[in-house]
Amino acid sequence: MICSPSFLSSDFSKLESEIKSISQAKWLHFDCMDGKFVPNQTYDHKMVKNIKTYSNQFFDVHLMIEKPIDYIDDYIDAGADLITFHYEACDDPLKLIRLIKKQNVLAGISIKPNTSVEVLKPLLPYLDLILIMSVEPGAGGQKFIPESLEKIAYLKAMKHKFNYEYFIEVDGGINLETAKLVKEVGCDVIVVGSFIFKQKNRNELIGELENV
Ligand code: DX5
Ligand code: ZN
Repeated sequence: MICSPSFLSSDFSKLESEIKSISQAKWLHFDCMDGKFVPNQTYDHKMVKNIKTYSNQFFDVHLMIEKPIDYIDDYIDAGADLITFHYEACDDPLKLIRLIKKQNVLAGISIKPNTSVEVLKPLLPYLDLILIMSVEPGAGGQKFIPESLEKIAYLKAMKHKFNYEYFIEVDGGINLETAKLVKEVGCDVIVVGSFIFKQKNRNELIGELENV
């Protein structure tokens, strides 16, 4: 599996060295929150632009914001390689997927724990990635929600049945135990925040997580 570390739980007073401490990761997960779609407010496209000056990782941008269509260009101009918006924050997801892909950026969609995975069925042929939230979006350090496993299995079955190409990504409460569980049911990419940043041997942990 691919590990996409989320720096939401890192020490922002020394961000550059924190990002450099996870240099082994090929992907980097940005948790952009607007304080409206989720109660927490974190950072926006300016953070993407800033980190682009010293990281050449694949920028996996997770938008937990309302009206994502209004901000897509800012994130693309800032250097996002993949933009994932929330199904619950968008009234025309296919239009937004097409807008993102037209600018040669990968398009992902995310659903919250209480949203049924079947709502994504008509969008699956067009998506590069689906992000299953295994915690309620808004904060790091929460406990993995086991019902997420059924959603991953469903997406894996659909991918197999219709030959879809999308990545299945899971975000929230991932550690060495839950990484094994999500891998078994077909996960391709794991977002890992606090489990990595609360320890010192980060690059070693990333290697272990990718090879559970
Ligand atoms: C929560 C974010 C997650 C979170 C993951 O809204 O989307 O990416 O930072 O953090 P951990 O791995 O600590 O659950
Ligand atoms: Zn996230």
